[in-house]
Parts: sequence; C-alpha cells; structure tokens
Amino acid sequence: MKVNGTHYRSLWWDADKDALQIIDQRWLPHEFRVLQVNSLKDFADAIVEMRVRGAPLIGVTAAYGMAHAMRLDPSDAAMDQAWEYLDATRPTAINLRWALNRSRNILRGVTPKDRASVALKLAHDLADEDVEINRKIGIHGLELIRKISNSKPSGEPVRLLTHCNAGWLATVDWGTATSPMYHAHDAEIPIHVWVDETRPRNQGALTAWELGSHGISHSYITDNAGGHLMQHGQVDLVITGTDRTTRRGDVCNKIGTYLKALAAQDNNIPFYVALPSPTIDWSVDDGVAEIPIEERSGVEITHVQGKMADGSLGTTQVTPDGTLGGNPAFDVTPNRLVTGLITERGVCDASTEGLSTLFPDLVNAP
Ligand code: MRU
Repeated sequence: MKVNGTHYRSLWWDADKDALQIIDQRWLPHEFRVLQVNSLKDFADAIVEMRVRGAPLIGVTAAYGMAHAMRLDPSDAAMDQAWEYLDATRPTAINLRWALNRSRNILRGVTPKDRASVALKLAHDLADEDVEINRKIGIHGLELIRKISNSKPSGEPVRLLTHCNAGWLATVDWGTATSPMYHAHDAEIPIHVWVDETRPRNQGALTAWELGSHGISHSYITDNAGGHLMQHGQVDLVITGTDRTTRRGDVCNKIGTYLKALAAQDNNIPFYVALPSPTIDWSVDDGVAEIPIEERSGVEITHVQGKMADGSLGTTQVTPDGTLGGNPAFDVTPNRLVTGLITERGVCDASTEGLSTLFPDLVNAP
C-alpha cells in the first residue's frame, strides 16, 4: 500500500544490495524506518522483537531466513538447524511453521548446490502468493460490506470494528481483515472503522496509521469499548484476522478477540474472520485445548511503550513497583461464535464442512 505516495510492501528484496529489506514496525506510527536483514540472527530477532509481525508476514520472513541460511551453508544439517532456530521464534501463528515446512520439503529434493537459489525463489513466490491471497480476500469481503451498505440509507457509512493489526503491515500487502476495507473504500462505499487499540503493544495504532494513509475514516478506541458500541447499534460488522484457525474453524487471534466475538453474538452482529489458507492448521480441531498461546513478558503490561522525548524507543512504568504482569498474547474464539470465514476462495462457515468444501485439495494433505 502507499506511504507518502510511494507503494511499499512490508518487506521486499533489494536486488542491488542482494538483501531483504523490512519495515521496522517497532517505530511505527512515529517513524517509517527500513531495515536490512543481514544474518540469520537478524531474521530471528526481527520476528522475536516484532520488527516484523502478523502471521502471514512472519511466515514469509522465515522463508527468506531459510534462503539466507542456504547461502551460508546448503547442507542438510544447516537446513535443519535454520528450521529449528526460526521455528522457535514465536509459537502461535501457524504460518511460520507452514512456510518453514514448505521451504524444507522442497529443498530436501534439491541438490545442495542449487538450494540457495531455489530457497530464494520460493521466498519470492510466497511473498507474491500472499499478496494475491489477500487481494482475493478483499474482493470476497467487499461483497459483505456492499450488502450491508445497500441496506442502509444512501451515504450512511458501514461501521466496521477490527482488533489488532491484520493490515498490510501484518502481511506482504493488502492485509487480511483490512483488505475488504481497502476494496470497499476504493469502490466508494462509505465506511467507518472502529480500531481497537489492542493493548499491550497497541497494534491498533498500526491499523490507524494504515487506514489514515489510505484516507479511510476511523476512530481509535479502547479495547473495552467495542461491547458498548455494539449495544448502541454503532457496529454493523466485525472483521478480524487470525494467527491459526483449526480445521473445525476455531480462530486463534490477538488477545481480546474472543471477547469481541462474545459481544458480537450477544448483539446479533456478524463476526467474520479473514483467513488466508496458510493460516489453517488442518492438524488441530479444538483450538482452546490444542493451540500453544504465546506468553510474553509481563513488562509489556506494567509499562507502556513508545517514542521518548530524546527520540529513542522506551517504556514508562504504569503500575506500582513489584506488580507482576500477566501477558497471554492470543486467545481462541470457538467456531460457534464465528459467523463466517473470508478466504481467498470465498466465504464459508466456520466448520470442517465449510473449510473442506472450499479447500478439498488441502483438507487431507499430509
Ligand atoms: O502479535 P502480533 O502483532 O504478531 O499479532 C498479530 C495478530 O494477531 C493478527 O491479527 C494476525 O496475525 C492476523 S494478521 C493478517
């Protein structure tokens, strides 16, 4: 999407520098900084420190990490080591393992001397695939927004609510939950987006930055405001992203998503999840019981983070000394609370039947 009139992806390969460039998201929305990734440790740190974040983007970054490792040493041992090292960076988003597996499975069938070039091409392909998947999610989601818009008096905006950042920064381009919003805006359907701040890391600020850059009307709200807005008829549709969706359609996403889904159901508001197929974990049914939830440092809760007066990134303590912070980073919304899944192949029920109808080729894949 555009930043100050220039089109950017959230990462890209610079052929002159022969290296991957990422947008360092820790600095947004304060500063737009680009960072070159130079070592395997840089790749892992970028994911762990959330310079890159969002399930699809983590996956593509890891694929470039495998390509980097193959340049240094294309042996089987180095490939397995890189896989382990990158896989250990973050536990919840399945796209990470999906991309690492896809890369390793292909590389195992390639002679070591060709592995570096094959792995790099695969990473480029995954990046391009991600863009296309998200564009299609936008086209399918647009129809949901259009339908609601058509039921309203002319000129009245469709009011959407979203949680976290499932925007273009969380993918390679378009975003998942935001792609229908960008498509609706570009189709001149009036919309307004309620953007949850998404404590503790305030990914909502990234969403606000994105939507603002695209000229989309939005308001930044506290994480707890959504239920109130729904009770008062101010939300027409909720769309969130997902870090891992099970074969029966349970949705794991940023902490707080579950509460939004409960409030949406209580108020009869459609709750949709934008789901790229690499985010489906076909090996898991019960998301609550089976998906590993990342526990992050309690300091993210006891301190707020931002740009300091001296220009550095820093934190300010908001709790009494010694207070412990509890920081589960994701939760699971059971499929019964999900109205539908917006995928690149269309919209389906959050159920095994729904997903297997759209993805018959993937449902029983090894
Ligand atoms: O911890 P984050 O910022 O990586 O979490 C991101 C989310 O929860 C997104 O909603 C999810 O990855 C979907 S991104 C298209």
